[in-house]
Amino acid sequence: MKNKVSIIGAGMTGSTTAHWLAEREIADLVLVDVVEGMPQGKALDLQEALPVIGKDVKVMGSNDYSATAGSDIVVITAGLPRKPGMSRDDLLFANAEIVRHATEETIKYSPEAIFIILTNPLDAMAYLAMKVAGVAPHRVVGQAGILDSARMRAFVAMELGISVENIHCYVLGGHGDEMVPLTRASNVAGVPLEDILPAGRLDAIVDRTRKGGGEIVTLLKTGSAYYAPAAAIAQMADAILKDKHLIVPASAYLQGEYGLNDIFFGVPTQLGRKGVEKVIEYKLSEKEMADLQKSAQGCAENIAKLK
Ligand code: APR
Repeated sequence: MKNKVSIIGAGMTGSTTAHWLAEREIADLVLVDVVEGMPQGKALDLQEALPVIGKDVKVMGSNDYSATAGSDIVVITAGLPRKPGMSRDDLLFANAEIVRHATEETIKYSPEAIFIILTNPLDAMAYLAMKVAGVAPHRVVGQAGILDSARMRAFVAMELGISVENIHCYVLGGHGDEMVPLTRASNVAGVPLEDILPAGRLDAIVDRTRKGGGEIVTLLKTGSAYYAPAAAIAQMADAILKDKHLIVPASAYLQGEYGLNDIFFGVPTQLGRKGVEKVIEYKLSEKEMADLQKSAQGCAENIAKLK
């Protein structure tokens, strides 16, 4: 039987996720949005593109959650961006309502689904989705680490002129300016980044990685990044559907790992058919551990506000 992935929120990231997933030809796709006609229009446009690239995937758009019935994976991208005059808390509570509704509606129709959460602040939204859906922690995962690590990989590749395939970067922590790029573990074809790049250049790459989302927002002026976040979601869905046991950084529920409890937080995870199969604990330096704890504070505060 064919896999089914439903994407809630057919905006920039949702529709681009559908695009990347259709190219992978791993599941039929459903786009759901509150805007009338928009998910239907985007789904039809994408469906009409598939003969050109030779992919056999059904793509459907709807304003009704019943279309998501029987999904293997539910991706939640629905949400509001921050507007002038809005505080982070306003965004937290506004998006919490949207994510709560999307979770309630999708779990009803897809009781076995694995949830991938993108809506920001994503660590808090993943926590909320787990509580609202009432599912085991391994069935909810937040997208951020692959994106943050991919940004760092892209910057290293630009700096060195070496294939992105040779560049392995690991960014942990919350999805914010306090994220923790691991420069010791990151490497180029096995050689630690710290041995290849002069300290000044490496610091500049770490700084640019931390502010990677903001750099795009400033350039775009309206909206935020979507190609890279969507590509990251597609990789996670692929790993889950193919039961790949793929190790990638992602936001997972912690129960004592890294000394953290009862929060979703960016850590190395192993993804397979049951979702988060494992949280992997790296041996961190004192400084890395301290940075991680600092980053965790922000995530814990957001979750506390939701409670
Ligand atoms: N149900 C379904 N869809 C909704 C709802 C809702 N209750 N509320 C809003 N949406 C839809 C919007 O209509 C819009 O099409 O969510 C979509 C969000 O798309 P964009 O505004 O294009 O935002 P995008 O760039 O895709 O980012 C999605 O990810 O970066 C985070 O939190 C950020 O909200 C943002 C989300």
